[in-house]
Amino acid sequence: MTNQLIEPQVHTPGELSAKAFADAQESLAGRDLCSIADLSTTEAAAILALAHKVKANPAAFRYALDAKQMVMFFEKASLRTRLTFEVAMNTSGGDAMFVDQTQSPLGERESLADMSRNVERWVQVIVLRTYSHDTITEMAQYATCPVINALSDHEHPCQALADFMTVEERFGGSARGIQFTYVGDGNNVAHSLMLLAAQLGAHCTIGTPKNYAPKAEVVAQARAIANITGSNITLVQDPVAAVAGANVVYTDVCTSMGFEHEATKRAPIFKPYQVNEELMAHAQPDAAFMHCLPAHRNAEVTDAVFDGPNSVVFEQAENRMHVQKALLLLLLGAKLPATPFAHIAAI
Ligand code: CP
Ligand code: NVA
Repeated sequence: MTNQLIEPQVHTPGELSAKAFADAQESLAGRDLCSIADLSTTEAAAILALAHKVKANPAAFRYALDAKQMVMFFEKASLRTRLTFEVAMNTSGGDAMFVDQTQSPLGERESLADMSRNVERWVQVIVLRTYSHDTITEMAQYATCPVINALSDHEHPCQALADFMTVEERFGGSARGIQFTYVGDGNNVAHSLMLLAAQLGAHCTIGTPKNYAPKAEVVAQARAIANITGSNITLVQDPVAAVAGANVVYTDVCTSMGFEHEATKRAPIFKPYQVNEELMAHAQPDAAFMHCLPAHRNAEVTDAVFDGPNSVVFEQAENRMHVQKALLLLLLGAKLPATPFAHIAAI
């Protein structure tokens, strides 16, 4: 399936009209989610609006994906992504199948094109966790059913959606105008967060060591969106400057899956970027601490911050389940219960 980018407009879920939601519902049905950049700002807001509804009233969606089949092919380890997709599907009346590809990279035994031509005849959605982002975009190109990126070397869009759902909960329903800071490796998670921050009108600062900045092409994509939504996308190398006045401080591991051979080299480079109480003291006093997990305790974040009162890491983990259920409902074109949407403009 191909994706279509609609001209960006700024929306927060609380401001999304029933018509805008209905338009997004129509435009998302049958689509892929390879990158956050595949979404218009309205579509991103609609996914989050539905995720809040799903969380508030899960019973209303109990059979919305009745008999739908989802297959997950994962080349990398996972706790949260696998289980939250499975729970989302199982609690909506559908079924989830997991295929461990950690010992056999996708495309090795059979071409991605031939795989797609088989799988699309049995299932309604394909979820992929891969080393190469190209594996995901290629599968999306061939498969006639939606393909969802559950993490690649380039992006982790489902994570970013759950994270900004968490930000909206924390900041009165909207991320617009907040200062969102990410410190650490300019990796897949940073890419998706930066793009979604721009779409939702949050100011995003990324603090990384030299040579570990986000990819220039993603920064350019984010800035193009930010020009329309009014957010600022800033890259710095000084971790203190990055977190100064931040409402949110986010970090991830210094060494992502697939880069393990660089772990020894990276450890000293990322040491000044550790999120500890001293660094958090430069942020707003009530600044939230966020991490996609799994965390390496006392490496990129200290126990004191991770377990501290402003840490929302387990809310993020919970919201993976709600946001992915919303995503599945929209991409699979599920018939949604009317009642929860009668007052969507007043979310
Ligand atoms: N955050 C995240 O994607 O976790 P898993 O790697 O456990 O799926
Ligand atoms: N950046 C990390 C995220 C894990 C959820 C990785 O790709 O390994």
